[in-house]
Amino acid sequence: MKHDLGPLEELLEQRLGLSRGSLHLGADLEAVLRERMRARGCSDLGDYRRALDRPEFAREELHVLAGQLTVGETYFFREWQQIEACVEIALPERFAARPDGEPITVLSAGCASGEEVYTLAIALHTAYPGLLPHRIKVVGVDVNPGAIQKAQRARYSEWALRAVPDDMRKRFFVRAGEEVALRKEIARLVAFEVRNLLDDDPAFWRPGAFDAIFCRNVLMYFAPQKMAEVLGRFAGALAPRGFLFLASSESLRAANAAFEAAHSHGIFYYRRSAAPRHPAPGDAPRASRWVASIHEASARVAEVARRVSPPPRRAAPAVPPAPRSSPSTRPPAAAELAAIDRALTLIGGERFTDAMAALAALPQRAASSARVELLRAVILCQQGDLAPAERACQRALDAGDAGDASDSGAAHYVLGLCQEQAGDAAGAAQHYRAAASRDPGFAMPHLRLGLLAKRAGDLATTRDELGRAAALLASERQERLVLFGGGFPRSTLIGLCQAELEARGGRAG
Ligand SMILES: C[S@@+](CC[C@H](N)C(=O)[O-])C[C@H]1O[C@@H](n2cnc3c(N)ncnc32)[C@H](O)[C@@H]1O
Repeated sequence: MKHDLGPLEELLEQRLGLSRGSLHLGADLEAVLRERMRARGCSDLGDYRRALDRPEFAREELHVLAGQLTVGETYFFREWQQIEACVEIALPERFAARPDGEPITVLSAGCASGEEVYTLAIALHTAYPGLLPHRIKVVGVDVNPGAIQKAQRARYSEWALRAVPDDMRKRFFVRAGEEVALRKEIARLVAFEVRNLLDDDPAFWRPGAFDAIFCRNVLMYFAPQKMAEVLGRFAGALAPRGFLFLASSESLRAANAAFEAAHSHGIFYYRRSAAPRHPAPGDAPRASRWVASIHEASARVAEVARRVSPPPRRAAPAVPPAPRSSPSTRPPAAAELAAIDRALTLIGGERFTDAMAALAALPQRAASSARVELLRAVILCQQGDLAPAERACQRALDAGDAGDASDSGAAHYVLGLCQEQAGDAAGAAQHYRAAASRDPGFAMPHLRLGLLAKRAGDLATTRDELGRAAALLASERQERLVLFGGGFPRSTLIGLCQAELEARGGRAG
């Protein structure tokens, strides 16, 4: 008979932050708890739960549990544009704000096995040679001691380096047998420690301790109250106007007292307001509103998962509807829909390896449908596997000949993203245009075309494309916002277009 895990789930939520849903994501929770119960000599799960009330037992045990229950997926150069924004925008500003030689400190909160911390070190060392570690400090903390040990060892599999450009790889890594080692002169520039973000430690979280905090792909696994608690801690410990970087699939509400959204380099980040209102302990309900949109992102994914097939439009659309599937299109089987549901949910949680496994479990016929190939392409592109992503797009296009034009528009869009990531702006623009012409209601290609034109200094096209993107975003399908909107709500994406338009003397249509 299954044991009631409620009290243990409650404790894990309180002490590690993990929401009940995420406790069941990566592991069989009951099997993990029973194995730990036996290892610690407890007679049953009730006994184990009571033992966790003893501080000396809990201290070590929670670290072991964290190692087994948290998701540690990470890689070097993940979401590189955020690192660039930190180097090019945050650092110069923070140097100006600390003219007396006081060091700038960048924290990676939930750093897993160190790839994010070392990516920051590589970028900062390249831009500001000689300033680490005395003038610029980079610190990584994680609740999982095994991950911190691996970080300190600074040796990785090839897979962890999948997004590292060749020149950086040659400069900063050396082969070490089956593994790749980060060069010692970079590894020694950073510091790591085992730390639970939920543990209060006034010395570590002192006011103004940090100039920038990266907390990417961590809070999305937290219960809302716990996210609010951690964000309150960040707000207190960030210098005024300090920077907070979340993953692009996570977002705070634009309007909250402690953080303001900002954007550049095609990404969003947050600034601590100059005089934030720090949430007090009894303030959680208000504070939890800040984080509602991180949960909204997961809720949106769930909604998409329920409505994999395109929903019927209720009102007359503001734009011409996408051509519908031809009558010959085979209706997806229940197993296919379930696997797609699962893959979408996992993609929303950035669990790309698991999402790929969910798709791989499909029977051959379903595994090669345009929709499945498209999801595969999205995953590969997110992982920086550009050539396989492009091949999956091509298969989606081939499979979708008789299918849904919105799938083929999306396949061209992903091809554009791949080419843009590979540095081929002209090739990317061609695919974005193909995406827009196949699916005239698709907003995202216009957004990318606008941003590409902005980079090229083409003011007229920037205005045109961003105006069109803003108009189309109003009725963009939720599914595509989830897959392609970087986790941002419709209103924020429209806000980005409008801000760019206003800066260039135009108006959103
Ligand atoms: C998916 S990884 C993210 C790694 C990296 N930030 C990135 O984006 O690539 C999430 C990490 O958060 C850590 N984590 C989860 N709960 C935590 C907590 N309460 N305190 C500190 N770290 C935590 C996990 O151990 C895991 O290593």
